[in-house]
Amino acid sequence: MGTAVVFKPTSIQRKALSLLKGGAKHILLFGGSRSGKTTVLVMAIIFRALMYAGSRHLICRYRAKDAKSSVLRETLIPWLNNTVSNNGYRYLAHESMITLYNGSEIWIGGLGDKEQADKILGHEYNTIYFNEISQISYAAVTTAYSRLAMKIKGCRNLFYYDCNPGSPLHWAYKIFVLKKTFLTSEPLEKPELYQSMILNPEDNRANLPDDYISDILDALPEKQRARFRDGLWTKTEGVIYEKFDETMIVKISELPEKFDRYAGGQDFGLNITFVKIAWVGEKIFVLDDYGAFNMTTQSFNEELSARRLLNCPDEMGLPVYCDPAGGERIQEITGGVKANNSVESGIDYINAKIERRQFFVCDRCTGVLSEIWDYCRDEAGQVVKVNDHFMDALRYAIFSDIQQGIILS
Ligand SMILES: Nc1ncnc2c1ncn2[C@@H]1O[C@H](COP(=O)(O)OP(=O)(O)OP(=O)(O)O)[C@@H](O)[C@H]1O
Ligand SMILES: [Mg+2]
Repeated sequence: MGTAVVFKPTSIQRKALSLLKGGAKHILLFGGSRSGKTTVLVMAIIFRALMYAGSRHLICRYRAKDAKSSVLRETLIPWLNNTVSNNGYRYLAHESMITLYNGSEIWIGGLGDKEQADKILGHEYNTIYFNEISQISYAAVTTAYSRLAMKIKGCRNLFYYDCNPGSPLHWAYKIFVLKKTFLTSEPLEKPELYQSMILNPEDNRANLPDDYISDILDALPEKQRARFRDGLWTKTEGVIYEKFDETMIVKISELPEKFDRYAGGQDFGLNITFVKIAWVGEKIFVLDDYGAFNMTTQSFNEELSARRLLNCPDEMGLPVYCDPAGGERIQEITGGVKANNSVESGIDYINAKIERRQFFVCDRCTGVLSEIWDYCRDEAGQVVKVNDHFMDALRYAIFSDIQQGIILS
């Protein structure tokens, strides 16, 4: 390693650091790409780890391998080398953990797979930093909340978050910008505990290649530019349900009184989700949804039942179309049957319904709503498999149901 570089925050990073030191418990830095969000939060964690001997801090993201490449290798290790030099810490690769000379620990991992999640959530921390929360479900984040329980004298435990902004329906926008609770949409009880700040690439010009803003960000298509250069919460390019709009979100009081039939959709995995729909003629109403993180299928089914989500009036049955890859888990779901999993045909069908304005989502369906405008394709046209848990359950419910109808008629 050459001579150590001293961390010199940009002026916006300095403001971010004072926000972190204010009274808030949850702090989100959002904004365009390469704006210095991750660097300042990682530095803040290094400072805290150094200041509070024996403290423990977690940096997590959806995929463990992204956490390792973009946070650990590109940010944390270089800045540790600059701050405490490479004699001042040890990196235990098999543990995904760094120990500092003063006994403090910094853990890094993914919330996307069970083994990793169980491992990192098996400890208590003083700081939990959710990196790139546009990819992390609200259920996963709240599951991790109980782990912010380590006690170190003088250290106030904090949650940090960062992201490139997602759609204005994303849970983080609702909580941090609209200051409403995610599940009930009530105003936050203690809004002062939730603070956010925008950082944009322009603010970090000094640390970026000369042509990065002018040649790369300015040249992006309009919607991507809004997100990645200007840090705006918008629907981006490649959104699958692009034509879905706010007029299709209905209140409970606006729902029809009677439905022709009901169906459920069930996705399995670490993010386990359920969506309930009902039909009136050609119209589809998405009535309810429920999601959890790292819950067994059996407990999840008990939750559905306790929340009366499996009930339908007039003894109308509720077939629950399940991820066909679910194997034996399907039998643990009341009414569980294998779903049709033709992804492209299912998406086309839902899109046709949206275009004909025969598709409505009740506003209590927070899971479906928080994903619907971020569910997108990559540049190669492939469906992006993050933040899609409710979208899969929705498609199983709708498309299996109509396929079933065709077979029966
Ligand atoms: N104070 C600083 N001093 C030196 N370099 C910095 C500083 N802040 C950020 N950088 C550099 O700027 C680049 C972008 O920073 P960073 O990765 O923190 O941005 P980001 O907002 O998290 O980006 P992304 O949206 O891509 O996640 C990196 O190369 C980082 O090393
Ligand atoms: Mg970052």
